[in-house]
Amino acid sequence: MKQINIDSNLLLAYSELIKDDFFEMSVLANTSAFLNEILDNINWVGFYILKGDTLYLGPFQGKVACTTIEVGKGVCGTAVARREAIVVPDVEKFPGHIYCDPLSQSEIVIPIFLNNEVYGVLDIDSPIKNRFTDADKDILQEFINVLENHLKSVLKYQNEQD
Ligand code: SME
Repeated sequence: MKQINIDSNLLLAYSELIKDDFFEMSVLANTSAFLNEILDNINWVGFYILKGDTLYLGPFQGKVACTTIEVGKGVCGTAVARREAIVVPDVEKFPGHIYCDPLSQSEIVIPIFLNNEVYGVLDIDSPIKNRFTDADKDILQEFINVLENHLKSVLKYQNEQD
């Protein structure tokens, strides 16, 4: 089964895709669309953005999803509380996992940091168990590193416009 098959060209293509885009929501929307195109065996990919103690649904690809998740709840809120990525091989075995799509069987959540503070999370669901490996986590983290760097510039630019 083909898992994430990512080479440095895809990382470069992703950097090129977002580098001239300085509207936060557009960057996140295109990131979710890009990841949806390159990843096999996923049924949801998108963002939750942290405001206070609540994660709010951001741009995504997939079925309609729950709009708010409290820090410490579900896989997303737990990743924020722990400030670390979480790979869930079988969502039924993750206490407190929140079902948005009953088809989801495994999941990965990667926190996004800006200036050492959690900005939000990337959340990806799969309709098969054991979809995400630690190697996948490392590769996705590289995309998130690119995103974090660009978002810093985007938010600085937006603050200057306000
Ligand atoms: N499963 C997530 C909720 C978000 S949906 O998967 C899109 C969780 O447990 O936090």
